[in-house]
Amino acid sequence: MDLGISGKTALVCASSRGLGRGSAEALAEAGCRLVVNGRDERKLEETAEALRAKGAPEVIAVPADVSSKQGQERLLAAAGEVDILVNNNGGPPRRGFRELTREDMLSGVTQNMVTPIELIQAVIDGMVERRFGRIVNITSLSVKMPIAGLDLSSGARAGLTAFLAGVCREVARHNVTINNVLPGKMDTDRLRAGIAWAAEKAGSSPQEVAEREMAGIPAGRFGTAEEFGRLVAFLCSADAGYVTGQNFLIDGGLFPAAF
Ligand SMILES: NC(=O)c1ccc[n+]([C@@H]2O[C@H](COP(=O)([O-])OP(=O)(O)OC[C@H]3O[C@@H](n4cnc5c(N)ncnc54)[C@H](OP(=O)(O)O)[C@@H]3O)[C@@H](O)[C@H]2O)c1
Repeated sequence: MDLGISGKTALVCASSRGLGRGSAEALAEAGCRLVVNGRDERKLEETAEALRAKGAPEVIAVPADVSSKQGQERLLAAAGEVDILVNNNGGPPRRGFRELTREDMLSGVTQNMVTPIELIQAVIDGMVERRFGRIVNITSLSVKMPIAGLDLSSGARAGLTAFLAGVCREVARHNVTINNVLPGKMDTDRLRAGIAWAAEKAGSSPQEVAEREMAGIPAGRFGTAEEFGRLVAFLCSADAGYVTGQNFLIDGGLFPAAF
């Protein structure tokens, strides 16, 4: 399927592994010029090489902490004019809410709310001027439904979602869209770390916990980063210009609601 974005520049934050990488892969297949990012330089370079093999016309790897101002400046300088921004970052560690310090909370809000807003502030006026922009934020099912140990993640991402609900309507007339994709349980390193955390708390094996969790998902399995990336790429496509301010769950039916 031609997404109509060949040659566009996509900045995909936190994309050396997992859902960010899945998004970068789908955008590479769509012919985008890519700027990819992660803190582990070796892993990032491996990913960049794989993306070149998928057909991206150019892939620039920027090893940096996307939450830091300096890291953001390096990403933006490498990208130049950004047409597509996929906001992603690590999530706060799983922790009971009573154990969170003030520093933990400020850091979680910086990661999952302030950082994506800062990057949007940096790129949105250029998108408006060029009459094309696609912004996708990777948030979480936890925005709609609590998940044990992830209260900080839920709160920061819900804040981001509410903040952008007004912003996206300010720029919609210029063919600039902002949407959020909410992963449920996708098979990545982070999911496996969460399973290990839950297994230790319950005194059972990670395999048992994984099987129990999959049994609770109507689709009967975890999702993949590839499936996730294709949804993100569609929201970045030329044809998705009339879709903005929406929250797309990708959870195999886990969240039980009619709307
Ligand atoms: N997987 C799920 O089922 C699920 C469900 C709900 C929400 N989420 C959220 O979706 C996001 C992506 O999750 P994932 O499962 O893909 O995680 P993952 O497999 O752990 O991958 C995280 C990626 O982000 C990079 N990264 C982390 N912190 C960074 C930072 N400060 N600066 C730059 N890069 C950074 C990592 O590379 P380095 O470590 O080398 O920096 C890696 O490439 C997270 O915010 C997560 O909480 C995931």
